[in-house]
Amino acid sequence: MHDIIHQLEKKREAARLGGGQKRIDSQHAKGKLTARERLELLLDPDSFEEWDMFKEHRCTDFGMAETKNPGDGVVTGYGTINGRLVFVFSQDFTVFGGSLSETHAEKICKVMDHAMKVGAPVIGLNDSGGARIQEGVASLGGYADVFQRNVMASGVIPQISMIMGPCAGGAVYSPAMTDFIFMVKDSSYMFVTGPEVVKTVTHEEVTAEELGGAVTHTTKSGVADLAFENDVEALNYLRRLVNFLPANNREKPPVQKTNDPAERLDFSLDTLVPDNANKPYDMKELIIKMVDDCDFFEIQPDYAKNIITGFARMDGHPVGIVANQPLVLAGCLDIKSSIKAARFVRFCDAFNIPVVTLVDVPGFMPGTTQEYGGIIKHGAKLLYAYAECTVPKVTLITRKAYGGAYDVMSSKHLRGDVNLAWPSAEIAVMGPKGAVEIIFREEKNDPAKLAEREAEYKAKFANPFVAGARGFIDDVIMPNETRKRICRSLAMLRDKKLDNPWRKHGNIPL
Ligand code: HXC
Repeated sequence: MHDIIHQLEKKREAARLGGGQKRIDSQHAKGKLTARERLELLLDPDSFEEWDMFKEHRCTDFGMAETKNPGDGVVTGYGTINGRLVFVFSQDFTVFGGSLSETHAEKICKVMDHAMKVGAPVIGLNDSGGARIQEGVASLGGYADVFQRNVMASGVIPQISMIMGPCAGGAVYSPAMTDFIFMVKDSSYMFVTGPEVVKTVTHEEVTAEELGGAVTHTTKSGVADLAFENDVEALNYLRRLVNFLPANNREKPPVQKTNDPAERLDFSLDTLVPDNANKPYDMKELIIKMVDDCDFFEIQPDYAKNIITGFARMDGHPVGIVANQPLVLAGCLDIKSSIKAARFVRFCDAFNIPVVTLVDVPGFMPGTTQEYGGIIKHGAKLLYAYAECTVPKVTLITRKAYGGAYDVMSSKHLRGDVNLAWPSAEIAVMGPKGAVEIIFREEKNDPAKLAEREAEYKAKFANPFVAGARGFIDDVIMPNETRKRICRSLAMLRDKKLDNPWRKHGNIPL
């Protein structure tokens, strides 16, 4: 017995040391924390229960039988974040570069299976050289086992990926199927093929950071959601994100008491929208002033900035916010913003998070780049996402709601539950100038007449009353009472029940 306990301690010690002090020092020298240090920061103190600390690889080729590390390059188990259960895996770059062996994959699969059984999020801290080269197809099989579980877990439990080192080749497809990807600047990268292969195939010279670093993926490709300065900042934000999410798709998101009164008025909002309809304003100001304690957790803040997506609370209850941003491209919907918002709406819908939509949209972006890029199909994604969405939907039109974009942005016609408008709302097929130039084309050489027509069109449509007369808008509210009215609407909708017809799955325009 005493001997076994001694052995146990020795094995634990060896597992805790991963690939050894030299490799730990090298990890630190790169500004990176170790797999275990990361878990310590991510989870509540003393909450981590580790599994499979003694698991070892079974490979015997290439001298591998002599090189075994207890744990085999990944630390797995469960713990809590602010008292709420999460399952975790954290790849240990000090052991074979965190590469994924058959047994390493089995450990990840085990926590994913348990997370599905008990209904709790899975958080993966990725830092890996990819498939364990010595193992060949056994390692590829391991990846596919993880992929299959990612897909089965999608929409059932939240899955979050933190990229904290290399993530290359087919390995990128596991994070790609999770709900959120966070990256650390200058130490993480994701790409299907690295700079060397790129150079050989396309003759492009590009660094790993330029090809697949955190800034690239949060500004250019949209693959990742947020980029952080270092491991510590990234892990702190990850804890904050988890606070907004339910543990699974059968739970409601966690309520947090607030001292911010639900009926709070904000008179500064009465002057947010400029008198000149072509002048932009910052939609984020409305969001910050509307939500509990000005606390807004923005998702993809640096990508497709013409639409804003993120989480906040209203009267303590989490909401997903989608808002056009008039400051960027006048708030037009284009390919990137449609995809960004569609994915966000679908996440909220899958996890019972009500969607609050703030609308100021002059339409879809015109041009060959957009048409050739498939704006028809991509814009349809957002339409599809809103139309299939059954969680409470509260929509506020602050200014422009023109054309197809009016329909798309959580309109009454797409089962918007409460649709409100500010007095500055203009709901029409298009802006007054464009409209009169089409319907009064024969008067195009008579500027005075055209101006008169434009004024006439404006008087008729540049207001919320035509839509209000049809019941497409439930009420016109003063900007200062926005928080109060939306909080009341959400409270009224708290027990909303709406089911879509049974089907195997829809066919979203991918
Ligand atoms: C086994 C690996 C490994 C791997 C790294 N190591 N990657 N061992 N399999 N895939 C080992 C190294 O031998 C080294 O061991 C240690 O990890 C650290 O690696 P270094 O190269 O010293 O570190 P660094 O300079 O930081 O470079 C990291 C790296 C590089 C860029 C990740 O190691 C690398 O290019 N690795 C190979 C990447 C790769 O081609 N993977 C397969 C991709 S294809 P020692 O003992 O010296 O410390 C793939 C397919 C998945 O993943 C398909 C899924 C469907």
